[in-house]
Amino acid sequence: MEILKTKAKMQAWSAARKRQGKTICFVPTMGYLHAGHVSLLEKGKPLCDELVLSIFVNPTQFGPNEDLDAYPRDIDNDLALAEAAGTTAVFLPDNTEMYGENYQTRVALDHLPHHLCGKSRPVHFGGVATVVTKLFNIVMPDVAVFGKKDFQQLRVIRQLTEDLDFNIRIVGGDIVREPDGLAMSSRNAYLTPEQRKSALCLSQAIDIAKTQIAGGATDVIAIRDKMTDHINGFDHTAIDYIEFCDPVTLDEVETIGGQVVLALAVKVGKSRLIDNALIDPPQ
Ligand code: PAJ
Repeated sequence: MEILKTKAKMQAWSAARKRQGKTICFVPTMGYLHAGHVSLLEKGKPLCDELVLSIFVNPTQFGPNEDLDAYPRDIDNDLALAEAAGTTAVFLPDNTEMYGENYQTRVALDHLPHHLCGKSRPVHFGGVATVVTKLFNIVMPDVAVFGKKDFQQLRVIRQLTEDLDFNIRIVGGDIVREPDGLAMSSRNAYLTPEQRKSALCLSQAIDIAKTQIAGGATDVIAIRDKMTDHINGFDHTAIDYIEFCDPVTLDEVETIGGQVVLALAVKVGKSRLIDNALIDPPQ
């Protein structure tokens, strides 16, 4: 497994592989890898000849009062997990390498960032779109794998890939959960044992909605009320949003008529946790 710290070395590595006729699969991350990240590497491994992981805590996707400085890091463990999953190269740049002194370009989407997490994190998806565009140009992959855990991010990436004509196949990886249902996240590391118990409210609230919809419920307000009551029954929780949306446009729906994405964000202590599910109404 090669570790490449500069854009020039990464581009040269990929260009050399391409000249040999090899295909490249890419999994971008911010590190502090867990089983969710590893599942993306495992999903990508059989898809191409080479498997590239990037680890970069991207400052442009964090707002001024967010957890950039506190973001957890453990590079030795990340490299061990990456190697065990069959990664052939790791792109590991620092901030100056990615955003030089004269950096001034941003990638912006018109609609998708104004929904869901974008409402309380106004700079987030612009930062994600910008860094992923740069990473695509640096790694030059044939396939890139992103987790469905960040449903809105996956939509943003699919849209920018189409809009900016990247010849890259975007693959979505299923959400990996702890045995009790909590979606794995690097941010779970911030939770105290008591908050960890409260964090279960997200997946449980999704289960409540699924049961309601399976039983024929279609009124979003009524379903959301039940979810809200459940979450408010836990200590240390503050709901940011619970929304039912069209899975492509992310526009909110008021009545469940077809497939919807149910997405929610809840602050548990200081950690802002997200979860989601695609739900089909009963036939
Ligand atoms: P990060 O939060 O490190 O996540 C990297 C990838 O892992 C993302 O595609 C995310 O959706 C996926 N992932 C995280 N938890 C998961 C889980 N429990 N199950 C399945 N997949 C999971 O997302 C980012 O980094 C950044 O925004 C990035 C795309 C790297 C741009 O900076």
